[in-house]
Parts: sequence; C-alpha cells; structure tokens
Amino acid sequence: EKGGFDHYMLKEIYEQPRSIRDCMRGRINAAEGKIALGGIKEYANKLKNVERVVIVACGTSWHAGLAGEYLIEEYARVPVEVEYASEFRYRNPIINERDVVIAISQSGETADTMAAIEIAKDKGATIFGICNVVGASIPRVTHAGVYTHAGPEIGVASTKAFTAQVTVLTLMAFYIAQQRGTLTTSKLTSLLTELNSIPEKVQTVLANNELIKDIAAKVKDSRNCLFLGRGSGFPVALEGALKLKEISYIHAEGYPAAEMKHGPIALIDKEMPVVFIATKNSSYEKVISNIQEVKARKGIVIAIVTKGDTEVEKMVDYCIEIPDADEAFLPLLATIPLQLLSYHIAVMRGCNVDQPRNLAKSVTVE
Ligand code: F6R
Repeated sequence: EKGGFDHYMLKEIYEQPRSIRDCMRGRINAAEGKIALGGIKEYANKLKNVERVVIVACGTSWHAGLAGEYLIEEYARVPVEVEYASEFRYRNPIINERDVVIAISQSGETADTMAAIEIAKDKGATIFGICNVVGASIPRVTHAGVYTHAGPEIGVASTKAFTAQVTVLTLMAFYIAQQRGTLTTSKLTSLLTELNSIPEKVQTVLANNELIKDIAAKVKDSRNCLFLGRGSGFPVALEGALKLKEISYIHAEGYPAAEMKHGPIALIDKEMPVVFIATKNSSYEKVISNIQEVKARKGIVIAIVTKGDTEVEKMVDYCIEIPDADEAFLPLLATIPLQLLSYHIAVMRGCNVDQPRNLAKSVTVE
C-alpha cells in the first residue's frame, strides 16, 4: 500500500505533482485569467468588501497560513493576521461580522482550531475552511470552504497536505483579488499559466532526491540546525525546521534571515548546518549577505537556489536547485527539498518517520 516506497512519508512527498494538480483541477481557467471556487462562490460579494482576513491554524497548517498571508496581502491587498488557534481562542479576540476567518486543518479535527472557529462564529465572522478530510468536523461547522483534495495523508508529518493548503490559499488570494479588482486579467492570466506549470516543476525538484540524500548523509549527525529565509521563504524556513525536528529529533529553528543577527547568530560555529532559502527573488541580495555572515563564522551552509545560480554556489557547502518561478510560488517548490532532506536524515538516524514519537496524526485534545 506504500506503492513501492519504504515509507508513507516518501510516497506522499512523491505524490505532490499529482496532489497539487488535483487541488487545482476545475478551479482555474488560465486562458481567460479566471478562478472558480465553487465552495465560496456565494461569498464573492463579501470578499469584494472584506476589510480583514484572519487565518487560524496549528503546526504545519499555520505555516501554510503564513504563506497565505503573503499571497493575500500581495495580490488582494487585504490585511491578514495569522494566528495560532490555541492563542486566539483564549485571548478574547477582536473579531466582528466584517471579518473573514480562514481555518486551515488537514484532519479537520484539531481541537484548538475547532474552538477558534466557534469563537469567531459567535462574534459574527464569516468562516471558511481549508481542509483535507472530507466531511470532518471542521468543514461541518464552517460557513463555506475549499477542500484540498490531496488524498489521505498517512505519514504523521504533513507533506502533501501542506502544499495543497498553499495551493488553495494561492487560489483564494487570486479569487479575492479577482473580486476586488486588484489584479489585471493579463497579470492573472500569467500567474495562472505559471501555477499550471508548478506540478511539473515539483517533479523536477523530486529528481534531486539522490543529491539531497548525499547532503543528508553529511549533516545527519548534527545536534542543531537553522533554517533561514525572507519574504515567502520565511514560512518555508519554519516548515523545514518543523519537519526536521519532528521526524529526526534534531533540534531545529526557523527564522526570518534578517533576525539572525538579533540572537541566533551566536549559535553558529563549524558544527551548525544552516539551510538558506536563497532563490532569485526580491530578497536575493540580502540573503546573500546573510550567507556571508554564516560562512564568516564557519557554519555549514545548504542553500536552496534557483536553477543556474552561480553566485551562491561559490559561497556555500551544498546547493539544491529548484526551477525559476515567481516569488508567489516559492513555498510550493522550496518546501519539497526540505521534506526530502528531513526524510533522509531521519531514516539514516533510524527514526520511525511515519510515526514519530509523541505525535498523533490528529490532535483532538488541547
Ligand atoms: C506537522 C504536523 C502538525 C499538524 C498540526 C495541525 O507535520 O502534521 O503540526 O500540521 O497538528 O493539524 P491539522 O492540519 O490536522 O489541523
């Protein structure tokens, strides 16, 4: 049932070209620059005038939310707040009927996310769900929603559900932009055409598996690891760190790269691997200076770079190339090599990757 793979996690990582495609199916019309999200179409008018979006989630789903914040603010020009459901629910949150709350949950059963929804609903907000498990508790209590259609995710560490959540959030950002007129049809056409090519690009990232395994062998005995990125690379860094810690038990932290000098830089020495999201987008030059700061302190740098990059390659210990893409799609591509890196490190350390210790697939108690 693992389809010839050693673990569900690896199978699910490899399913991503298909799961991302399934998630987009029937929802985009690239030629006409149009998005159709049947689940929320009755709320098109609401979205046209929305003043604020609040995203609530936990764990990996919360990281997808951060990627969504970047997309919704950039394209739909609506302010977004991303909240840990567990914090939101106990804070007497300021929410009203003009707000749209998006709850993200793979399982659709997470207790804190459920409770956050109930509170926001009581305060009159419109609640959308982004869930993977059809008919689960969360999709039943939301006003409307969009399923991720990633298929069952068995590995406890979330992989294909994350990229599907980010895909839905990308579609939602474009959909809200469409209602509000913040994206021209020609820009939307070009973004959607590019989104259509993402599954193939994910396939080319997967082709780096052997290289990633070799890198994993070099760093598998580390005790700590840092993940750094800027802009839409920041949620990728957080997700990379979470994957590594949960399945390999190596202590890992994700940070915005610029925050390094406000503390974490003190940790860097020749034993510390630092993974950079160093692709060619708006923060490229700034990330390069952050890499120099780490190399000056003898840190071991692994960089996720844009295919054909030669500048970063000269400076770092290991490079993993991903295809060129608009910054909007960075999380969909740059997360894949980090999933594989964590997977191989965990396998080499003899860990149970599909069922890491102390973790459960759905967290139905707070
Ligand atoms: C990490 C992971 C968890 C979940 C979190 C939320 O790999 O799987 O962090 O993302 O427990 O779960 P859902 O999305 O089911 O609400």
